[in-house]
Amino acid sequence: MMKTTDSRPTENAPIQTALQATPSAIPSRLRDVLALDDFARLCKPSLPRMIYQYVAGGVETESAMRNGREAYQDYGFTPRALVDTSTRATSVELFGKTYSAPFAIGPLGGAAFVAYRADLALAFAAKACNIPMILSASSLIRLEDVQKANPDVWFQGYLAGDFERISRMLDRVEAAGYKNLVVTVDTPILGNREHNIRSGFSMPIRITPRVMLQSATHPRWLLMTVAQTFLKHGAPHFENTEAERGPPMMSRKVRNTIARDKLTWEHIDFIRKRWKGPMVIKGIVSPRDAFLARDHGADGIILSNHGGRQLDHAMAPLRVLPEIAADKGDMKVIIDGGIRRGSDVLKALALGADFTLMGRPFLFAAAHDGQRGVEHAYTIMHNELMRDMALLGVNSVTELDERFVRKAGSR
Ligand code: FNR
Repeated sequence: MMKTTDSRPTENAPIQTALQATPSAIPSRLRDVLALDDFARLCKPSLPRMIYQYVAGGVETESAMRNGREAYQDYGFTPRALVDTSTRATSVELFGKTYSAPFAIGPLGGAAFVAYRADLALAFAAKACNIPMILSASSLIRLEDVQKANPDVWFQGYLAGDFERISRMLDRVEAAGYKNLVVTVDTPILGNREHNIRSGFSMPIRITPRVMLQSATHPRWLLMTVAQTFLKHGAPHFENTEAERGPPMMSRKVRNTIARDKLTWEHIDFIRKRWKGPMVIKGIVSPRDAFLARDHGADGIILSNHGGRQLDHAMAPLRVLPEIAADKGDMKVIIDGGIRRGSDVLKALALGADFTLMGRPFLFAAAHDGQRGVEHAYTIMHNELMRDMALLGVNSVTELDERFVRKAGSR
């Protein structure tokens, strides 16, 4: 049964499961949250503009972000009728583990500045819901602590093109007990996030009068996230970009992003030899790179334009998916960007994806109601999947193929 007490996580928080809640047991804070987009809507007034924009925004014209979402509108379903779907289940296997649903929580840098100890809230919720969560290299909570909260969390590295630094980082990640490694390759440098400049947000964050005003007028965030973090855990640091602890989030010292633009396939080969578990490359859009990843021994790719936060006008992942899926071999294809509905997940799987991933909705869910909010997000998606599977006429997501979708305008 769902607890109605505050669900903000502590390192030793019991795993609270919201999954069996009957509608009347849903706490009032979540009762209006019927779809994932409701989290963003509800967070908008309660977060400072700079924080809301940091999560919701894209780069430049936001075309890559918009297209990522709109691509899902291009496809309609061709559902089957008169199929017994009474045994349907959303579970699916990935890298030797059976998850409850075919979607993961993506890596979200700076999450613990958006919601109190967000990486732990996400990790506990992922464990309770039995879905993958990927911890970001730009997270503010030690990767060792997040792994203790949920030993199945994956780690995402922002690695430099420097064999020595890669080696030391992998030693640390391995020693902490991580099995699945994600290497993000679409961030040789940071994209042009004009909205951050406009709203006054920067990393490291600078305390300007504008930042102080926004913070003071959003006391819930200021007290529950910022003050609570400082009082209980001290100033947040970039804990996981390198083998050693990074600088505090508020220091003027620039984060160590040096030599990320030197990362090449040579380093991927080095990582492949070094890393025993599944290696996934995130941030692939070009089919040429997808096939290179396959040939360089990647166990999976995350087909992603970083949610439209890196190169503007980078192609919507869904539009290149069929071409990549047709020749992926044994490599798993995970897709993200603009997925907000169970129907989006089902379209992606029908077009050849093995798994999906979401970013913003889970972070807004954590900002709205901590671990309990994230579990509610899972429940919404799970319910949408179960309903849509009955209406589509499938018992397992593995039954989906391109015959279940048509491109708008095609016969
Ligand atoms: C991200 N994303 C991201 N990706 C990554 O590889 N490492 C990271 O540290 C981050 N950090 C990050 C922070 C925030 C606030 C957001 C919103 C996104 C990208 C993320 O993992 C994912 O690719 C996109 O969010 C997917 O798009 P949607 O689901 O947000 O539309």
